[in-house]
Amino acid sequence: MKKILAIESSCDETACAILDEKLNILSSVVSTQIDVHARFGGVIPEIASRMHVEQISIIVDNALKQADVSMDDIDAIAYTVGPGLIGSLHIGGVAAKTLAFFYDKPLIGVHHLKGHIFINELLADFEYPMLALVVSGGHTELVYIENEDSFKIIGTTLDDAVGESYDKVARIMGMGYPGGPKIDKAAKEGKAHYQLPTPKVDGLNFSFSGLKNACLQLAKKLERNGEELNNNDLSYAFQEVALNVLLNKTLKAMEEYPVKTVITAGGVAANSRLRELMSEKIKGVKLVQPPLKYCTDNATMIACAAFHDLKKGKFVSLDTASLSDMSIEE
Ligand code: KG4
Ligand code: ZN
Repeated sequence: MKKILAIESSCDETACAILDEKLNILSSVVSTQIDVHARFGGVIPEIASRMHVEQISIIVDNALKQADVSMDDIDAIAYTVGPGLIGSLHIGGVAAKTLAFFYDKPLIGVHHLKGHIFINELLADFEYPMLALVVSGGHTELVYIENEDSFKIIGTTLDDAVGESYDKVARIMGMGYPGGPKIDKAAKEGKAHYQLPTPKVDGLNFSFSGLKNACLQLAKKLERNGEELNNNDLSYAFQEVALNVLLNKTLKAMEEYPVKTVITAGGVAANSRLRELMSEKIKGVKLVQPPLKYCTDNATMIACAAFHDLKKGKFVSLDTASLSDMSIEE
């Protein structure tokens, strides 16, 4: 059975996984830098790159040991070619190319968001056409997927990504980084008390910076008036507005683009309230929502996407450049 060794290093996780072609996970090792970046309230690119350099060989070695395989058993090396932090991407790219060159293995360059999408194949068979709601720290995208080779962005954010706005609003409340899981938890204790404006954007696009600013203005106003901000209530209010926008745009997209499967992907897909709203309201299609461990960055997702390329013999050369900005449509 064919095996892929995959590397992910686009942001602040250094990860390596080994999967076989039936998508059995032989190993999946993730080293996260969250604790280090948390001190600064967000990811510091230079620190991320340096930590990838320190971790990458150890992580690859651990993945091989845990899978109990040697490089001779590996049929291809896959890595995240973009988008992401350029320094971070570069480290994973150099590691993957070195392995491919030294052991004479084909090299597969994977788009990070395709990884977030195709990891859902661990949970269900995809029935095309599909709609993916990709929501993470760097992305808010509605992607229409006609077949496994055809991706079309039909909606995107005009300013902040939804995960980014979670992180920034959490910062306003002094909750620390990453804000998503903290707001998710606090909102469960919150009630409908604060009023926040729903972003108004035509079509299938999104905007979250106005909502973030409304949270900031509210916090400042309360402070000026000597009143205390209730973090649970603001978490509740922010989340209800942000997530209903995601839900309503998804429903609108389903009207314009009839699909058989709807999937969620990316870090924010781990949100418990989003999962609840999607299960309640998305009807008449196969709905696939990944569990937490498949939502945040890992290398299993890169391997899942890479098997499609391996089957087609779609490889990249050793001089392929990493790309910080890269469209899923190409
Ligand atoms: O996909 P991911 O791990 O990295 C990127 O590619 O960006 O997503 C990270 C983002 C962060 O903004 C984090 O706050 C958010 O996902 N996140 C969540 C939750 N867990 C992680 N947002 C809302 N609710 C959560 N439970
Ligand atoms: Zn990601």
